[in-house]
Amino acid sequence: MRQVIVAGNWKMNASKEAVSTLVMGILSGMADVESKVVVCAPYPYLSQVEALITHSQLHLGAQDLNTNASGAFTGEVSANMVKDFGAEHVIVGHSERRSLYGETDEIVAEKVQVALDNGLTPLFCIGELLEERESGNTELVVSRQIQAVIDRVGIEAFKNIIVAYEPVWAIGTGVTATPQQAQDTHAFIRSMLAENDADIAQSTPILYGGSMNPTNAKELIGCEDIDGGLIGGASLKAEDFLQICKAG
Ligand code: PGA
Repeated sequence: MRQVIVAGNWKMNASKEAVSTLVMGILSGMADVESKVVVCAPYPYLSQVEALITHSQLHLGAQDLNTNASGAFTGEVSANMVKDFGAEHVIVGHSERRSLYGETDEIVAEKVQVALDNGLTPLFCIGELLEERESGNTELVVSRQIQAVIDRVGIEAFKNIIVAYEPVWAIGTGVTATPQQAQDTHAFIRSMLAENDADIAQSTPILYGGSMNPTNAKELIGCEDIDGGLIGGASLKAEDFLQICKAG
């Protein structure tokens, strides 16, 4: 049985006060949550969240990393820095990084490798654009995105990777993939992993992301190959996020 994982991606939404309210709110409702819960904070707030979640069931993640360990990379943050502030996870290859910051499949694969090399669990994001879905290329796109990572780190590395399938057209739009659309793509992703290693395919968590909310979470997470969610907008309200955490 794969454990349900629910990860909040706060994106660039935070202030010290908002982070404190949100984290305290989540912590106050965690007693009956069985899912593994991760919150991915913007870099400046990692330290604050690290302090707030000590001795709790909450796990901390960052939203990106630079592939270099240190040096003259103004404005960038390395894997060992986010680890230093208690992050165990890091989002890699989010569609906003791919589209707004030019991250190619190769860059994403390198980031997955650097995360793994530093003992961080990558939340490795994949997903197709609307025009790619409409032209029937969803499987082609996600298999290309996954293959780049398999080529770089090997299938064994998926023992320490969480995959997040996020159709780009569903992110932040309020348009969710139907449970059937999501399940079909998740099953395809798992079958692709299975071509490389059947056991690893069975154990790899594949989360769905894209306008998941308290209303649709249960049905989505209830699908056979959907092992949880990567939540943007709905992760910013403790009550909504907790409802999703309890949907698993
Ligand atoms: P959303 O974002 O839940 O706001 O659609 C999901 C994500 O981008 O990870």
